Amino acid sequence: MMINLIKMRRSIRKFTPEKVGDEIVNQIIEAGIFAPSGKNNQPWKFVVVRDSGLKEQLSDMTHYSQIIRDAPVLIVVFLDHHQSYDYIKDVQAVGACIQNMLLAVSDLRMGGVWLGEILKNKERVHALLSTPEHFELMAVIALGHPAEKGKKRERFGLDQVIFSKIG
Ligand SMILES: Cc1cc2nc3c(=O)[nH]c(=O)nc-3n(C[C@H](O)[C@H](O)[C@H](O)COP(=O)(O)O)c2cc1C
Repeated sequence: MMINLIKMRRSIRKFTPEKVGDEIVNQIIEAGIFAPSGKNNQPWKFVVVRDSGLKEQLSDMTHYSQIIRDAPVLIVVFLDHHQSYDYIKDVQAVGACIQNMLLAVSDLRMGGVWLGEILKNKERVHALLSTPEHFELMAVIALGHPAEKGKKRERFGLDQVIFSKIG
């Protein structure tokens, strides 16, 4: 059931060296692009990185270098400003797209984590991946076969997050 999948998903930061086929990567990206977006503008673009030299250079751009080095595949997610119409809504849509991808990762019994800390070096990422000027880095998803179960992260209770019920 979808609600179970949502609740069971965990960030996975350790991977086995097993290869991840294109078919799996495509299924994950396809789940991403079925996310909603304002006016259906679909403002996302992806770069898939398997090359170990490139991964090594990317790993230098974040505190989470080991995750980047160990992941067999990275899906680098960009906002495409040529598709953009409203910055906040576009970023929200890309967030929905990334969450769809992470749910697909979990459903396929793969492991993945959303990496955002690397955004501090987004200009260096753009230069390394030769992306056009109108792309803006949103996240890197590290993907592989899981070598850990992932920590259960607690959540605030409903009583802490529902500020009020009116009516
Ligand atoms: C916008 C965003 C940025 C994140 N950046 C990182 C990151 O740079 N490194 C990392 O290890 N995890 C990162 N995470 C994963 C979170 O740490 C993780 O989702 C959170 O601790 C909850 O754990 P869970 O995903 O297992 O439920 C990020 C998550 C989001 C949504």
